[in-house]
Amino acid sequence: MKFIVHTYGCQMNVRDSEAVEALMTAAGYEKAESESDADIVIINSCTVRQKAEEKAVGKAGNMIAAKKLTGMMGCAVKRMGADIFRRLPKLDFAVGPRAFGLIPKIVGEIAASGGKAKRILEIGDDIVPSGMSEHVAGGWQAFVTVLLGCDNRCSYCIVPEVRGHEFSRPAKEVVAEVEALARRGVKEVCLLGQSVLRYGIRNAAWDGDETDFSSRHSAFPRLLRALSEIDGIERVRFTSAHPRGCTDELLAVYRDCPKVCRHIHLPVQSGSDRVLKEMGRGYTRGEYLAAVAKLRAFDPEFAVTTDVIVGYPGETEDDFEATRSLMEEAGFDNSFVFKYSPRPGTRSAALPDDVATEEKERRDQVLLADQEARGLRRNAALVGTVREVMVEGPSKRNPDRMSGRDGGNRIVVWDAPAGTKFEAGEKRRIMIEEAHAQILVGKPVE
Ligand code: 5AD
Ligand code: SF4
Repeated sequence: MKFIVHTYGCQMNVRDSEAVEALMTAAGYEKAESESDADIVIINSCTVRQKAEEKAVGKAGNMIAAKKLTGMMGCAVKRMGADIFRRLPKLDFAVGPRAFGLIPKIVGEIAASGGKAKRILEIGDDIVPSGMSEHVAGGWQAFVTVLLGCDNRCSYCIVPEVRGHEFSRPAKEVVAEVEALARRGVKEVCLLGQSVLRYGIRNAAWDGDETDFSSRHSAFPRLLRALSEIDGIERVRFTSAHPRGCTDELLAVYRDCPKVCRHIHLPVQSGSDRVLKEMGRGYTRGEYLAAVAKLRAFDPEFAVTTDVIVGYPGETEDDFEATRSLMEEAGFDNSFVFKYSPRPGTRSAALPDDVATEEKERRDQVLLADQEARGLRRNAALVGTVREVMVEGPSKRNPDRMSGRDGGNRIVVWDAPAGTKFEAGEKRRIMIEEAHAQILVGKPVE
């Protein structure tokens, strides 16, 4: 039987889907080339905003109608619980975000029972899914989840509810996983966690840190150092960060470890102190900007990207303008803007969702236009510099061009006339000649 996994949502889901693909393959199922070719469809769902959840549920409905053995996994399953079978009575199975390791077994049982077994599994919030460190062979980039769940309680966010308590995987296990990836040809790893700088704080990640709480705060910098020492690994990235984790110790890692990329994804959500406080983000505008200033004082080219929510309950024009000015002061290299969407059971869902849809849309557009101008300005400062780029492949927009990314996660493209050869995963030096808001254009240099 052939299977396919469809993924919605964040990188964490992308990573979980990959683990499921590896587990299904190991259990003897074959990966389908396309949906029409698949007997089994597994939908990895997201619930961070209402629209994301609807997409996954809609897709499942279509797959059921197409008579596929259909299962759902991920965040929307956990949020909806048994209700998912009221929405989709013919869904074959549903498992929560920490139970994906059971999918091959469940699929086997359903296939053997002629489609009668139906179940939903929500394994404890503290569990590490089995198969967590399984990867699909091939490729030079890999995600590695190091911190599961989230113990923050931002007012708007459903993630802690659905992904359970924070749990740091033992450093030994993470190091072994990355060593194994390196042996398979992986050159770049991206460490994942909702608030990844909290690695090792709630539970000890390193042997010997069990009783010493103060040393747990060093767990993440220590992990970065250990991974940088692995032969074959050329780049180490991570996402997402929080300003509180931008310590001197983290900065020292950037100074000492050239493999650790100088890019940080630091979701700010709002630039208004009043809104930040209501959200429970745990920093003020000033503290956030101080963290960015610290990184940029160390390296002015340090790439800083962010997430912003527009239209949070009670967000006034002044609050919104504060977000705009913060974004300008921080000089973000890139930003992702989201329109507020109330999630059942979160604290902010009790507040009236009082910013009109059209106004959310307007604020979104304003921030996008600001980012275009700012991105162009930030990128223009890089004209004339040489970027170290990992080659990804032919550019999507123009197949005569190659595309790759620098350490700051900036997209760099260059002409690659027939006869020139660039391998995916190879490191090249590109001299930047032209800047756009979203890409840099250059030419290879020796
Ligand atoms: N509404 C809109 N955006 C949200 N995000 C998280 N929860 C919500 C919500 N209820 C955004 C945040 C987060 C990103 C992944 O999604 O900006 O950083
Ligand atoms: Fe966790 Fe806050 Fe990020 Fe939501 S926004 S996932 S609560 S850190």
